[in-house]
Amino acid sequence: MNPIVVFDAVTRIFQVRGSTEAGTAPGARIVQALDRVSFAVREGEILGLAGESGSGKSTIAELMAALQTPTNGRVLFNGEDLAGLRGAGRREFHRRVQMIFQDPYESINPQHLIRWWVEEPLEIHGIGARADRLERVRRALAQAELRPPDAFLNRYPHQLSGGQRQRVAIARAIVLEPSLLVADEPVSMLDVSVRAGILRLLRRLRDELDLTILYISHDLSTVRYIADRVAILYQGKLVEIGGTDAVMRTPLHPYTQALMSAVPTLVVAGPRRPRVLLPAGNGSAATTPSCRFAARCPHAMNVCRQREPLLVELAPGHAVACFLHSEAAVPQPGGRA
Ligand SMILES: Nc1ncnc2c1ncn2[C@@H]1O[C@H](COP(=O)(O)OP(=O)(O)O)[C@@H](O)[C@H]1O
Ligand SMILES: [Mg+2]
Repeated sequence: MNPIVVFDAVTRIFQVRGSTEAGTAPGARIVQALDRVSFAVREGEILGLAGESGSGKSTIAELMAALQTPTNGRVLFNGEDLAGLRGAGRREFHRRVQMIFQDPYESINPQHLIRWWVEEPLEIHGIGARADRLERVRRALAQAELRPPDAFLNRYPHQLSGGQRQRVAIARAIVLEPSLLVADEPVSMLDVSVRAGILRLLRRLRDELDLTILYISHDLSTVRYIADRVAILYQGKLVEIGGTDAVMRTPLHPYTQALMSAVPTLVVAGPRRPRVLLPAGNGSAATTPSCRFAARCPHAMNVCRQREPLLVELAPGHAVACFLHSEAAVPQPGGRA
């Protein structure tokens, strides 16, 4: 399958003013939210992206939607570097790539009728005449399973349930007939009872509208339910990626194993390394390279504290960045680091 999006060694660094982090000097600091992250989203797939809070998931989402730019590396959409997008090409990109956010309460303006909310993107992109736009709004609402659509057009967000509001947000996204949906924790705020319905809807829309979906969650159970492949992020590093069945049945990275384990203490206990905070001006990698999971890893070896493992494909399509599995994870002098 063709890649629709490619992350090519993407690093994202944030400048943080006046850090109050214990053990660091006051003043400017930089946070490395992503460190040389490379992966592809294949056309037509649902790729799940999982990792704990602060691991860099939303940063990946915003880079993919061109709401942020990489500090280093490239993000390609259909082979084109997003950094080079201008004018009409840029507008077309912003039609073809739509985001769905975690909080349907925040992302919907409470003052406006549903019909206005779903129609607005068409207006912004200058799509269709008035009557035609209303027809598109009806169709998008019906596709989001808000039926009959006429029963929702003239209602306000507060008259809807949380699940219905997230369906309105989905209708607003698909009304533009996008090719890629970036869904950042779309069910995390919703009642458990309505989550499966939203996940089924996203899967159905993928099939019926030929969509590609990046599905982000800190909760592996929803990823397992919806995703064809899964990528695991830990502190800004991609540590494992593969088919959902393979990763769930044979998780290779100790962090993935911990995430999946019935013993959640592995994930929450243990010495938590503070987020990578580097002195301002040092825009490259951490000064002492090591596996970022080493301090919390039950299998940590010496090499894990001295070097950074590379992502290595161990079985077709299943890659892991861990010294337990591969000597090849050791960066070679002069090789790709
Ligand atoms: N605009 C920003 N300014 C400073 N730091 C940020 C900003 N956005 C994200 N970060 C930091 O980058 C890291 C990754 O954040 P994020 O991508 O939101 O993670 P996640 O979505 O997995 O919770 C965190 O340490 C976060 O504090
Ligand atoms: Mg997030």
